[in-house]
Amino acid sequence: MILLEEKLEEINAEENSKKIKIGVVGAGYVGLVTAVGLSYKGFKAYVFEKNKEKTNLLKKGISPFYEPDLQKFLQSSISSGNLVFTEEISQLIKECNHIYICVGTPIREDYTYDMFFLDSAAKEISEYLPQNEFKIIIIKSTVPPGTAIWFKKIIKRYRRGKKTNIEVASIPEFLREGNAIYDFFNPNRIIIGVDNKSIINDLIQIYRDFSAPILVVSTTEAELIKLASNAFLSTKISFINSISDICEKLNCDIENVRRGIGMDNRIGLDFLKPGIGFAGSCLPKDLNAIISIFKENKVNHILFESVKEINNQRIDLLYNKIKKALWNIKGKTISVWGISFKAGTDDIRESPTLKLIPILLKENAKILLYDPKAVNNFKKQFPELSIHPSIKLTEDIYESVVNSNLIVITNDWEDYQKVNLMKIYELMETPIIVDGRNILNPLQVSEYGFEYYRIGVNYEST
Ligand code: UDX
Repeated sequence: MILLEEKLEEINAEENSKKIKIGVVGAGYVGLVTAVGLSYKGFKAYVFEKNKEKTNLLKKGISPFYEPDLQKFLQSSISSGNLVFTEEISQLIKECNHIYICVGTPIREDYTYDMFFLDSAAKEISEYLPQNEFKIIIIKSTVPPGTAIWFKKIIKRYRRGKKTNIEVASIPEFLREGNAIYDFFNPNRIIIGVDNKSIINDLIQIYRDFSAPILVVSTTEAELIKLASNAFLSTKISFINSISDICEKLNCDIENVRRGIGMDNRIGLDFLKPGIGFAGSCLPKDLNAIISIFKENKVNHILFESVKEINNQRIDLLYNKIKKALWNIKGKTISVWGISFKAGTDDIRESPTLKLIPILLKENAKILLYDPKAVNNFKKQFPELSIHPSIKLTEDIYESVVNSNLIVITNDWEDYQKVNLMKIYELMETPIIVDGRNILNPLQVSEYGFEYYRIGVNYEST
């Protein structure tokens, strides 16, 4: 293990960065942000994305998904000439000496990663690799430990004995959706996984002017660091959610308790917000994957099973709060604020709202569904639900509460804090709020006359 902070070799950095040409395979969250970020930093970057519709949008400077500031940086990099979208992977391999693999690794039914897209990328790359030019392949997709080693083997296998002049590295990504551009330019740390030390300097050239410590480890260690980091974050959330449950029984307020816990520097307040569980495309998937990896290796995985179980129970807890508040749900109109899995994104993957909707429909409730950014995504992915007679979708927060009996908050957009509470109160039939994210100010909401219920507080005693 090598920890590099300011200890870079004396090199002509400017000259070297000109020699580095970045190729990115896959323009999802990770791939697009990596390409946009590195091209903005001055590297020439080529991106290959299989989905033609996506590539056409990207060529016009349009981001296929919502991510704050991404489109601005995308357009700036395209106009500087540093960012090129290509339809030919052969062009990318010809032009680039550092090829990032950012393809998807969805989870299979047995909770192991589906390696199909990585395998396909290996096959396509192997076809065009020149025999006499050295290429570094960098895996950025979230993968099971051991993938980089496999990837090198697979490429050689597809080459069928032709000379293969490559090294494979692993540089995991820690971007949060909704903060991806900020996180790209301000990482906490850069983990470089290599199995051959001769490529360390090459890789450091790419990251030399990020003000973050660089840790060099093996590829398998880098892959494990990524998975373990997400498993730790999930554990922290399930931990605070458990503490919030006991707060409700002991007449304590979780907001006071968590502040007290987080004041310990060893613990910290980050990722200690109680709510209705972790969601999105990463944490639930990576937790399932880590459980499979532990099982496969016959290592005790009880910790992660508990984290998962606690998380799975959060929707029931939310439903019980709604039921308790309304007494009878049948025939009631419920405003759901939040479709995306969290603020700052239109991504609805694993969103708690998707689990809540069928429960409310089964109870014969009418649903007014609101989100500042994710309405279109919901319409695209759930066309039948979008025209369901008991569901009305709206992008206007005030329209979402007309004659409503209860607002349930499922994600944490700041917009909810800025809303005109008096107007909301007047528009509702019965002004009740169940705040699944503890995002509103309880005193303020109560002053306006709302009945207000949040997570980690027992309202029977207040
Ligand atoms: C996560 C990791 O943070 C990131 O490093 C990794 O690269 C990808 O996965 P992301 O999925 O974008 O990022 O979301 P994140 O901000 O981590 O939140 C994950 C989930 O946990 C969300 O559902 C969020 O609402 C929830 N959460 C987060 C809490 O319930 N409480 C918290 O204190 C923090």
